Amino acid sequence: MIYIFTMVFSLNVLILSSSAARYDYFQFTQQYQQAFCNSNPTPCKDPPDKLFTVHGLWPSTKVGRDPEYCKTKRYRKIQRLEPQLEIIWPNVSDRKANRGFWRKQWYKHGSCASPALPNQKHYFETVIRMFLAEKQNVSRILSMATIEPEGKNRTLLEIQNAIRAGTNNMIPKLKCQKVNGMTELVEVTLCHDSNLTQFINCPRPLPQASPYFCPIDDIQY
Ligand SMILES: *[C@@H]1O[C@H](CO)[C@@H](O)[C@H](O)[C@H]1NC(C)=O
Ligand SMILES: *[C@@H]1O[C@H](CO)[C@@H](O)[C@H](O)[C@H]1NC(C)=O
Ligand SMILES: *[C@@H]1O[C@H](CO)[C@@H](O)[C@H](O)[C@H]1NC(C)=O
Ligand SMILES: *[C@@H]1O[C@H](CO)[C@@H](O)[C@H](O)[C@H]1NC(C)=O
Repeated sequence: MIYIFTMVFSLNVLILSSSAARYDYFQFTQQYQQAFCNSNPTPCKDPPDKLFTVHGLWPSTKVGRDPEYCKTKRYRKIQRLEPQLEIIWPNVSDRKANRGFWRKQWYKHGSCASPALPNQKHYFETVIRMFLAEKQNVSRILSMATIEPEGKNRTLLEIQNAIRAGTNNMIPKLKCQKVNGMTELVEVTLCHDSNLTQFINCPRPLPQASPYFCPIDDIQY
């Protein structure tokens, strides 16, 4: 009797834990279209805008590997959301390939976002809400701090402080890239707790040895 009870109990724990979160926080990453196209191995088919648009919303861990490609139902077209996704989440290299980008982001990252975001509809609706309704548009956040995309050299602190002013003073993660001797701001990540209820300081800053490490000054945006 006790044996069976124990077995059933551990089976339950196993089932529950396998559907429970394997992530500690979310990264909401946006890419600066012009810089993205400057470094893309194949030229962008569409002219890039001077705007940050969504790269993805990624469930992430503070230690170890981030979850990817979790088991999921097949990707379904989400026509109702497409007009908004086309604006905030284009495939910057080729807007005709938007659907492929969304599908890949869903399989690679969205499929692991349960329980906070239990399904595909929830995942995409949440990104739209964060970007538009919650005004987590990085271009907008920078602009609010009077940092416009003018191709000027900025200090790291200037950029960080501008973003912190729009994210409850939490520290973002920034990616820079070197192109023709210049350093460009290419990605900004805003971090959120595992509930997506509040901003947090981004864990795991890029190591100094990373090719994307941002210097303290002369960052072009
Ligand atoms: C984005 O578009 C490019 C160019 O067509 C394509 O090669 C790439 O696979 C697309 N990205 C995704 C994730 O589908
Ligand atoms: C994001 O912010 C920029 C700068 O304020 C603005 O030009 C752009 O239209 C915004 N994007 C969306 C989709 O609202
Ligand atoms: C998630 O949200 C609930 C309710 O707001 C809160 O009690 C809980 O602490 C949050 N968990 C995390 C990890 O932030
Ligand atoms: C920005 O910084 C780079 C690298 O230090 C320098 O070569 C460039 O002249 C600077 N650009 C401007 C507009 O000051």
